[in-house]
Amino acid sequence: MDSIVVKGNGALSGAIPIAGAKNACLTLMPATLLSDEPLTLTNAPRLSDIATMTQLLQSLGAEVASLQDGLVLAMSSHTITSHTADYDIVRKMRASILVLGPMLARDGHAIVSLPGGCAIGARPVDLHLKALEAMGADLDLRDGYVHAKAPGGRLKGAVFEFPFVSVGATENALMAATLAKGTTVLKTAAREPEIVDLARCLRKMGARIEGEGTSTIAIEGVDRLHGATHQVVADRIELGTYMLVPAICGGDIECLGGTIDLVGAFAERLDAAGVSVTQTNRGVKVSRKNGRVRAVDVTTAPYPGFPTDLQAQMMALLCTAEGTSVLEEKIFENRFMHAPELIRMGARIEVHGGHATVTGVPKLKGARVMATDLRASVSLILAALAAEGETVVSRVYHLDRGYERVEEKLRACGALIERVKAA
Ligand code: UD1
Repeated sequence: MDSIVVKGNGALSGAIPIAGAKNACLTLMPATLLSDEPLTLTNAPRLSDIATMTQLLQSLGAEVASLQDGLVLAMSSHTITSHTADYDIVRKMRASILVLGPMLARDGHAIVSLPGGCAIGARPVDLHLKALEAMGADLDLRDGYVHAKAPGGRLKGAVFEFPFVSVGATENALMAATLAKGTTVLKTAAREPEIVDLARCLRKMGARIEGEGTSTIAIEGVDRLHGATHQVVADRIELGTYMLVPAICGGDIECLGGTIDLVGAFAERLDAAGVSVTQTNRGVKVSRKNGRVRAVDVTTAPYPGFPTDLQAQMMALLCTAEGTSVLEEKIFENRFMHAPELIRMGARIEVHGGHATVTGVPKLKGARVMATDLRASVSLILAALAAEGETVVSRVYHLDRGYERVEEKLRACGALIERVKAA
């Protein structure tokens, strides 16, 4: 297995291009299953999760061509040749469940394996299933698979209130509702920018949707959707991650392609910690000149709150802050697996259930550490950039699921970072 070796070398400065959003792309890709005409995505990120979704769609009979070095995905689902999403692909990535709603809506039946993905908590898919059941789906859970059928071959519009916010369940229900008979109203819907991006793309395909970006989305089902071309929104989690580089190391970095409104709650916490964040006409510029950042408290919440996907990276920063910070994780249980690894680097962290108390130290120290999930892995790289000496991060396959060319982007700002290929 590859590892990444980092030598902390002080302040970093430069410009980092922000890719299209992994999580947006992973929900836009299954939207191809809703139409027999081509769907083309531009600004796609080059990531192993995208390759996994490509493989899954191809296994269902969709054509997916990766063009322009992976930046463009030209997809076509003229016919769905298999309605079974197999365990061997689905177990690699939880977002695979997003093929369920579109297949069921288009052809009235689908069989999808229950998913795997990052080991952050239990992460069930009951809300996805409840929303589809409200639209009339008959669901049967057998042998690790969801067997779904729409009576009469078509889902029906329904009013469905999610008991709490789920990004994936909102996406699955939204896609399914576009082809249902009648109107669907989704209440307590997720408001994430990825939902807004999906709704925009579906609208280009002919869907009738109102209210995306608010907690009530109304969808009037249509008989068929057509082809479209859509540009994937910028990755707000990659943006936030690179905004933390000058915050933790000192220096000045302009993230090219993002906007502050994508990461409002996060940018506000950075500002409170004493980091300067400004919008430029090319992106977001972040700088920290002298001294340490101040401790700040952080509580994760659904959008527009502080994203859980930036909690691990923020913890790395707060490990070096002046004072004590409390981080509260409200979205996923068991999402502090990076804490023991940061402690190996000299951090002072105590975890009690859903809270972590972090007392900043003046300097972290390089160590051998292990990536436990996608965001944890990049938090260790951030810590390593600011640490004294050499850090070796192993199990970096997690990183490749969500960050493209991370070493190249950081080296361009002066970081000493390289990938060591497994023998
Ligand atoms: C998406 C993102 C992920 C991010 C998360 C929260 C993708 C591909 N992934 O994941 O990076 O961390 O949003 O912002 O977009 N839950 C249930 N039942 C369900 C569904 C969810 O109990 O049927 C729970 C989850 O266990 C979790 C919470 O709801 O505690 C929120 O999860 P959800 O918003 O669904 O996350 P994902 O869509 O899986």
